[in-house]
Amino acid sequence: MSRYTDDALSKRRVPDGFRDRIALRMVKVMRVFADFFFKKRYGHRAVVLETVAAVPGMVGGALQHLKALRHIRDDQGWIKELLDEADNERMHLMTFIKIAQPSRFERVLIVFAQGLFYNAYFALYLFAPRTAHRFVAYLEEEAVISYTGYLEALDASELENVPAPKIAIDYWKLPEDAMLRDVVLVVREDEAAHRDTNHAFADQLTRQETDRGDKELSEVENRAKARENVDA
Ligand SMILES: [Fe+2]
Ligand SMILES: [Fe+2]
Repeated sequence: MSRYTDDALSKRRVPDGFRDRIALRMVKVMRVFADFFFKKRYGHRAVVLETVAAVPGMVGGALQHLKALRHIRDDQGWIKELLDEADNERMHLMTFIKIAQPSRFERVLIVFAQGLFYNAYFALYLFAPRTAHRFVAYLEEEAVISYTGYLEALDASELENVPAPKIAIDYWKLPEDAMLRDVVLVVREDEAAHRDTNHAFADQLTRQETDRGDKELSEVENRAKARENVDA
């Protein structure tokens, strides 16, 4: 049973403001490199990119944890949600490693990409968490598109629809005779769920910014009124 209708699965979010456009632009640049390097080698693409996709949840979770400690306040479920996302992405990796073995060059690429991406995302989340969540959400939109391409290649018999790996059958509770296509379908739904969660987190941070701005404005107005009353 699918968690998404076709429309809900493929929906794209129009950037709202400068920071959203920056986040989308960063994702589009990464997509150009991924398309150039992997082309239609979807198994390899999944292995390498899932090593990157599993980073933001762990970074965001750790930084939200530290923030909750600093401010001594409830995290409203953010930490678990983000750590679950990282764990889910790692399971994508553990599944696709049964389908495609990365080349020696790809293994080197994974190490360098992790070093670069972990630090860059950490800095982004530290100084601009809203943009960081929007960036991940746009990345997940691209992941949905990539897995749709994977499905199309399987349906066109460009890739062999092999039996699903055991690890995937156990994790997603798939039927014993499930095939790779069934795995790609559930993975794609996971990516759509990450997309929606990260857009929602970015929206929540936007609302908090607006509320803070409104509060500061009303405090300034109240102070101005109090001064007028004293002068009068
Ligand atoms: Fe993934
Ligand atoms: Fe994802």
